[in-house]
Amino acid sequence: MKKIHINPLKKCKKSILVQGDKSISHRAIIIGSLARGVTKIKNFLEAGDCLNTADIYRQMGVKIEKKGAEYLVYGRGLFNLRQPAKTLYVGNSGTAIRLNLGVLAAQRFTSIITGDAQIIKRPMKRVITPLTEMGAKFESHGGYAPVTVLGGVLHGITYEMPEASAQVKSALMLAALHAESATTIIEKEKSRDHTERMLKYFGADIKVIKNKIKIKPGKEIMGRTIYVPGDISSAAFFMIAGLIVKNAEITVKGIGVNPSRTGIIDAIKKMGGKITIKNSKNINGEPVADIVTKTSKLKGITIGGAMIPRLIDEIPVIAIAAAFAKGKTVIKDAEELRYKETDRIKTICDNLGRIGVKVEEKKDGMIIYGGEGKPFKYSDIISYGDHRIAMAFSIAALSSDNGLLIKDIECVGTSFPEFFNILTKLKG
Ligand code: S3P
Repeated sequence: MKKIHINPLKKCKKSILVQGDKSISHRAIIIGSLARGVTKIKNFLEAGDCLNTADIYRQMGVKIEKKGAEYLVYGRGLFNLRQPAKTLYVGNSGTAIRLNLGVLAAQRFTSIITGDAQIIKRPMKRVITPLTEMGAKFESHGGYAPVTVLGGVLHGITYEMPEASAQVKSALMLAALHAESATTIIEKEKSRDHTERMLKYFGADIKVIKNKIKIKPGKEIMGRTIYVPGDISSAAFFMIAGLIVKNAEITVKGIGVNPSRTGIIDAIKKMGGKITIKNSKNINGEPVADIVTKTSKLKGITIGGAMIPRLIDEIPVIAIAAAFAKGKTVIKDAEELRYKETDRIKTICDNLGRIGVKVEEKKDGMIIYGGEGKPFKYSDIISYGDHRIAMAFSIAALSSDNGLLIKDIECVGTSFPEFFNILTKLKG
């Protein structure tokens, strides 16, 4: 297992780029494969999770090749995927397994899909239940992977989502494209809407009115060119670094700022952080901008309700900002964190405790007592094989007394293989 010692940082004025958005990269491969014609993907995220999705579609007969800096997906159109010869493997990716359950459910063949040790502990019932309502058939291990999918004819349903989950919603939308009748999905709280935007961009018959999505099947979708913006979930680490490092100004360029993902910007503003959004533009249906953060005096806040799905993946690094702030930060309504790559309520609280931060674990979140800029105490950090825990605490190290030793860092490759190189550049 690899580990890295990260030293504190005294000052930093840098402009950086982060890698492409993970959610959009997965969807570009999946939707591109189901479309007719060629889809060109620029700035595709070459990280474990998305490369596994590309391999899954190759195994189902889709030609996917890298040409220069672009990925080309030679879409086969709906109902033309081939039965894979072996078990489909998503590695660590919750997005890959859940979205693909929606696609596989509608194929006219049987397939098996599974993933790594973390994936087989994550709940799949949340997708299996509504897909079964659509007529799909599965065999699973009590709602856990490996899942055998007995693909077949689906019919549309009206489904009210019990949890805010873009993965579940997207699985249903992808299945709905193949169904015999229309599907309506209703969300209580809006989760990321990249699938809706991309399906529209590819020409699907989809209507979104507030929290209601309606998909009518029967229309072929057509291959397009997609530019994948920088991932705000990766940018988040450097945005927080810009706030907690002394004498800092960090610009992250070309970041996706889809409103369903910008909870972190709102949280930073609420904490009193200095943040500016510049050069806003729209690229293939997704808003993109540069984000600048500067050294700030932060104050504790409450984060809960509809804000949670808009910053769910950023909570590990927001917890670092909270630990640095003045006063307490309450994170609530976030029980979903317990079903991520690790139980993030536990893994955040455990590591905050190690670096000398007072924290109380709650069923649906935590209360963090900020140290008002006091440097974090030297410790080992256990990532528990969770990429976002490893990266969040690498950022905490920048504002520590003697650095931090981050253990088990290979996991960073699932979403952001360039993370440590960029971190080194910040220091240079
Ligand atoms: C994702 C949705 C989110 C997020 C995950 C990626 C997606 O999960 O945490 O990292 O690409 O759809 P939910 O399904 O819980 O929204």
